[in-house]
Amino acid sequence: MSSPSSPSPFRAGFGKVPPTLAGRSKIIRAFAEAIEVGAWGSERALLVRGLRGVGKTVLLETLRRQAEDAGWVTISETASDGFVVRIMNKLREAITLRQPSGAVKISSIGIAPIGHIGFVHPEPSDPPATLEGLVEKLAGLVEPTGGILFTLDEVSAATMKEFGVFAGSLQRSISRDHEIAMICAGLHTDIATILRDGTSTFLRRAHNENLDFLSWEDTLDAISTPIHAHGRTISPDALDYAARATQGYPFLTQYIGDKAWKENQNEQNISLADVKTAARLSKRQMGANIHEPALGRLSIQERTLLAAMAQDDGPSAIAELRQRLGSITPQHLNNIRSKLVDAGIVYAPQRGKLDFALPYLRDYLREHTVTDAMNATGADLAKARAAFPPPPTDL
Ligand SMILES: Nc1ncnc2c1ncn2[C@@H]1O[C@H](COP(=O)(O)OP(=O)(O)OP(=O)(O)O)[C@@H](O)[C@H]1O
Ligand SMILES: [Mg+2]
Repeated sequence: MSSPSSPSPFRAGFGKVPPTLAGRSKIIRAFAEAIEVGAWGSERALLVRGLRGVGKTVLLETLRRQAEDAGWVTISETASDGFVVRIMNKLREAITLRQPSGAVKISSIGIAPIGHIGFVHPEPSDPPATLEGLVEKLAGLVEPTGGILFTLDEVSAATMKEFGVFAGSLQRSISRDHEIAMICAGLHTDIATILRDGTSTFLRRAHNENLDFLSWEDTLDAISTPIHAHGRTISPDALDYAARATQGYPFLTQYIGDKAWKENQNEQNISLADVKTAARLSKRQMGANIHEPALGRLSIQERTLLAAMAQDDGPSAIAELRQRLGSITPQHLNNIRSKLVDAGIVYAPQRGKLDFALPYLRDYLREHTVTDAMNATGADLAKARAAFPPPPTDL
């Protein structure tokens, strides 16, 4: 156990693996089983989808570490332009590292005057020139004790063509019984595009994992476990306040946990006052680092729709929004709404309704005057949110 003045265990910030990865143990277990050599299961192709800040990147990293511990070679990339070439380079490096150097042969022995012995180092055969060839070659080097895991983050429609090439190659290697696994992560709409446009059976059979906000119990776990594991305590009322302030948003469990830890670092116990300060800071942080940049990428019309929604205390009725916006046609409103759903800013909790997907966006819009496609996950999200206690009223 460390002393109360030890550094904060929380990992506030995108892509930082938290000390307790709450609520994801089922996924982790299923993946561990899937990569047991020879146990080909649908989880070997995993598509992880979810809103910003819900924990896609850290889940990918956790599963990657798990595969590495199990003796697999892991190749990780972000699916931006040129990712196939970057993956090929990484495959070449991995092959070079694992290729047996072979015995050194003596090619000639010279006699005086300048006695010499010539050695020929057998050239490792040139690495194959195609992605598929590289995958096959590396698979041959790591099997039968392991396989190759590819993780691809921030998959998007923009690199769909490359993605098709990539998935096609893996599909062919898998059909030749190689030990290959792939995990892709992206926002809902990006994963949906891949499934719609992707032609490989490998993808169509892939296992879909819809990452959502954390349940109440998992939120308590994400905050309290690291505190106890690092030698401090948190009062029950403080834990309750902190968990409610996160609204189950994984990003906030780390941010609030971190700020609360640092508030009075030399005290043994984290108090309600510490947590209140942290929660207030985190709300501002959400505004500056999440809401503001997200809003900055939107058109005036999209922002106007959000402003109209912010007048409601809960989900907005689309019919009502249409009236508030005046002369807008249903088709036009539908287009704007789809764009906002795609951007992960709003979601449809039920038909005909629209709500903010990110915590505190409503408050942010109210404080900063900014003048019917059902989201596939809307109903689930609505259910989970309804079961979560409301945020503190004085926040
Ligand atoms: N299961 C979890 N338990 C506790 N904290 C989590 C969990 N998942 C994510 N976090 C924390 O949430 C923050 C965001 O995680 P991450 O960067 O993985 O989100 P993301 O879904 O990849 O976001 P983006 O869509 O912007 O890429 C990080 O600080 C991370 O530590
Ligand atoms: Mg990410």
